[in-house]
Amino acid sequence: MPGARGTQILLERERELALIDQTLDAAAEGRGSTMLVRGPAGIGKSELLSAASLRAAGRGFETLRARGGEFERSFAFGIARQLFAAHLEDADQRAALLQGAAGLAGPALFVEEAGTDDGAAVSMGDPAAPIQHGLHWLVANLAEGAPLLIAVDDVQWADLESARWLVYLARRMTDLPVLLLTAIRDGEPALGADVISALEEESGSHALRPEPLSQVATVDLVRFELGAGADEEFCAAAHRAAGGNPLYLRELIAAARDADLAPVAESATKLEDLRPEGISRSVLVRIARLGAEASATAQVVAILGDGTSLQRVARLSGLEPDEVAVTAEGLVRAGILAGAETLDFAHPLIRSAVYGEIAPGKRAVMHSRAAQLLVADEASAVGSEQGSNWGSKLSESEDSEGDPEPPVQAQSNLSRTASPGLWSRWSPVRVRSLTPHWRPRSGGASSEGRSGGAEPGSSL
Ligand SMILES: Nc1ncnc2c1ncn2[C@@H]1O[C@H](COP(=O)(O)OP(=O)(O)OP(=O)(O)O)[C@@H](O)[C@H]1O
Ligand SMILES: [Mg+2]
Repeated sequence: MPGARGTQILLERERELALIDQTLDAAAEGRGSTMLVRGPAGIGKSELLSAASLRAAGRGFETLRARGGEFERSFAFGIARQLFAAHLEDADQRAALLQGAAGLAGPALFVEEAGTDDGAAVSMGDPAAPIQHGLHWLVANLAEGAPLLIAVDDVQWADLESARWLVYLARRMTDLPVLLLTAIRDGEPALGADVISALEEESGSHALRPEPLSQVATVDLVRFELGAGADEEFCAAAHRAAGGNPLYLRELIAAARDADLAPVAESATKLEDLRPEGISRSVLVRIARLGAEASATAQVVAILGDGTSLQRVARLSGLEPDEVAVTAEGLVRAGILAGAETLDFAHPLIRSAVYGEIAPGKRAVMHSRAAQLLVADEASAVGSEQGSNWGSKLSESEDSEGDPEPPVQAQSNLSRTASPGLWSRWSPVRVRSLTPHWRPRSGGASSEGRSGGAEPGSSL
């Protein structure tokens, strides 16, 4: 398999690795450049940075590494300090490196945590210019010893001063034996968009966007991890659930292993019902960072099911449609939702994580309100008595354990009014969100051939 790294396997990244090789070779010859890896959480940005540093070591480069930290953004030049720390510990080496113009970097590297309150704003006008100049010279001095790979991960959380210096450096790289490689996660409401787009601009054609893994790669990874005999249907279920996101796929595989789930066809539905801890944690933290509206919107989408409209989410969440639209865009940027017009989660596992986080009592209330809302919508769309009769039936079913009948009328009402694609994709979940207690009479009786598992909309 291509690109093995330690015990991890790097699949379908040939194009990115070839470009990394090319830019390293050019840098070794004194033609430095900047690369930027962008993408959603878990797509494999850090893994590419690690692969680059291995490839750089093989070519005699020295790697300077740093990583933005969510809670360290207020420490001015924190990233710069991380990059150079190892070289500045020894007094003799420090004195040698800080000779000449590089000495101007001193205040950034040695001043005690000269932080700003909120990560915004030390003026990067004149006062910072000498420091940027000094740091640039520090890089140049270091590069005299060996070509450099400067790898900065999670730039979205970099302190503003360092981020601006990275842009400054990126603009002055062309005659240095240096590759500046940065990674930025999409949709994090931290670093100013101006800095990110400046870095993107400086990277030009070297701005990388790793793609989700294909089904073929998913099959390879599942079989590599769980055994060559892993069934095709099981692998296909893993691909549907993880949507090609390597992090989600690896978490899912780990969860399957923990649950002693044999990779056979019969386990496919159980796989989709797994709710890997690691994914839930990462997803919920990312949503929480986007604010209370984002959490409310995501929860409502988890209740209503994919393909729901902004208006419906607004009505159920109590937010204004405009607020939902803005919030949904943020969720799309953060890789939580796939589309902001009809609201779909980017992966079923994300939906599962959000759904699982809603407290059972709140979930029941939300399902009940969702049922009333959908019924009201359908009744007014169909303009028939049937709709409202069905509505009261559904409300009654909220109180009964295990409503024995599937809501046939509900299906027929919705199928007449909703777009065909939407209904055919989400009918089982939608029906369950309307009648959370309903279960098919026997496994396989539901239209998607699954008996009620712990999936969103089915677990009340
Ligand atoms: N191309 C790939 N093939 C196989 N596994 C991969 C691939 N890319 C990444 N992985 C694995 O997926 C997981 C997530 O990768 P990584 O940490 O690089 O993602 P990331 O984009 O940096 O995420 P974050 O935004 O959270 O920092 C890791 O376990 C990594 O080994
Ligand atoms: Mg990362």
